[in-house]
Amino acid sequence: MRVTVLNGPNLNLLGTREPEIYGRATLAEIEALTRERAAALGVTLTWHQTNHEGEFVELVQGLPGAADGGLLNAAALTHTSIALRDALLAVRVPFVEVHLTNILGRDAVRRHSMIADLAVGIVAGFGPRSYVLGLDALVEHLRAGG
Ligand code: DQA
Repeated sequence: MRVTVLNGPNLNLLGTREPEIYGRATLAEIEALTRERAAALGVTLTWHQTNHEGEFVELVQGLPGAADGGLLNAAALTHTSIALRDALLAVRVPFVEVHLTNILGRDAVRRHSMIADLAVGIVAGFGPRSYVLGLDALVEHLRAGG
């Protein structure tokens, strides 16, 4: 089973970016945690981060054939990107939306996700553990025939 993880804008700055909100873990540390879980699950993991909306859209367009499912932290694109929504509608690859923070408990602009209704499910608010929990849930979903 192949899972692709897509990380959106500014997640490359984790560790130093608003640590009171996002914590001190770097994206590389979150990747290591997620890879450890993927190995335990027997899943092949591909990992990307981009600050560019168009590149994120192209990565989504490349999911069919490359992955059985996606784990997406689209970061700010979650709240703004119709292009991302359209790409996900076009490819129809099952994905889980993940966030470090509980976006529903934050400022109004973050309480709406452009992609949540297209997701298998959402994991938000558990810091780096959101990725691990999201991967578990995605793999269980796919193995059940997803
Ligand atoms: C985030 C939440 C978004 O609102 C924000 O723009 C991010 C990170 C999270 O993981 O909590 O960049 O996706």
